Amino acid sequence: MRTALITGITGQDGQYLAEHLNSLNYKVYGLVRGQNNPKIEKIKQNFPFIDLIEGDLLDQSSLVAALEVTQPHEVYNLGAISFVALSWNQPVNVGEITGLGVVRLLEAIKLVNKKIKFYQASSSEMFGKVREVPQTEETPFHPRSPYGSAKAYGHYMTVNYRESYEMFACNGILFNHESPRRGLEFVTRKITNTIAKIKLGKVNDLSLGNLEAKRDWGYAGDYVKAMHLMLQEDKPDDYVIATGKTHSVKEFCELAFGHVGLDYKDYVKVDPRFFRPAEVDLLVGDSSKAKKKLGWTPSVTFEELVKMMVDADLALEA
Ligand code: NAP
Ligand code: GDD
Repeated sequence: MRTALITGITGQDGQYLAEHLNSLNYKVYGLVRGQNNPKIEKIKQNFPFIDLIEGDLLDQSSLVAALEVTQPHEVYNLGAISFVALSWNQPVNVGEITGLGVVRLLEAIKLVNKKIKFYQASSSEMFGKVREVPQTEETPFHPRSPYGSAKAYGHYMTVNYRESYEMFACNGILFNHESPRRGLEFVTRKITNTIAKIKLGKVNDLSLGNLEAKRDWGYAGDYVKAMHLMLQEDKPDDYVIATGKTHSVKEFCELAFGHVGLDYKDYVKVDPRFFRPAEVDLLVGDSSKAKKKLGWTPSVTFEELVKMMVDADLALEA
């Protein structure tokens, strides 16, 4: 039986990846942190097949111990401070966890067993002020946030360990991916959850920041499959994972409000508090390499994703 250790198991992607690996008959371990983390109970209840192990990307020895105990064939590093807006308020913390955390895990693998295959959750946020459209594996990075900068460091260190120590280390450069399990702080879920609350008379309006920003939004359930496929290749490499289509926050609002028969203009208020010190205006990825080499393509369209999220939030809030 193949064994995988996932960091970030309590997050959106950790949950989908654990389900996917379980469906492929993997033994799945999940790294959890904190002495009273409320998310841990939910994981235990909803995913009883996951074995939880304590550890923290800030603590080198806990990572070494987690690898020694679980002896995984594959490690998926999904743990991070992942909310871009927060990264301006906590740049050092983000550097420590989202950036240096990658190196702590790579070092632990080098020490315990260099044959462990490693997946790093790289991000389209590294492209930032984009140098070309669409973005590919060859597009230079220009990160626009402490988060994007920390991810770029983790990305290059993953390449560096691959080239220096012949480790099987891959970067998945994933564009935005969403689902009903998305954190409420991210714009898509903020919109769909607030729509459900408006529809049920719990709140009256929705305050957002920049409505013009454009993102390449896909479905998280599709994207975790690409993570697994990368580690099944003969050689480690880096891959862009995206839908190839981009939409503005405004378009997301139009579609999501429209799905419940409302006009977003009657509810959405622009609030300067939600603007960022530096914005990533446009992301759209070209995932032809992943299609050609991994046989990966997304299965859920933007329209289907928006409806799925609105419907799930209506059911949750009812
Ligand atoms: P998420 O829902 O925010 O989950 C982040 C996870 O990181 C949580 O499980 C959190 O655990 C864990 N974590 C935070 N600090 C940690 C630490 N010090 N040690 C160990 N774990 C820690 O993020 P996601 O959307 O699933 O994304 C997964 C990964 O992909 C992240 O690295 C993210 O940056 C990256 N990514 C995401 C997207 C996207 O669109 N979703 C796109 C590109 C890249 P706690 O419960 O302990 O807080
Ligand atoms: N969160 C949020 N809240 N974003 C808003 C709001 C708001 O009220 N109003 C407008 N936006 C805009 C942001 O300025 C940004 O341009 C866009 O909506 C998307 O914001 P988020 O959903 O917070 O995601 P993100 O693109 O910054 O980051 C996500 O995707 C990255 C990959 O490109 C995260 O999942 C990152 O972890 C991931 O790496």
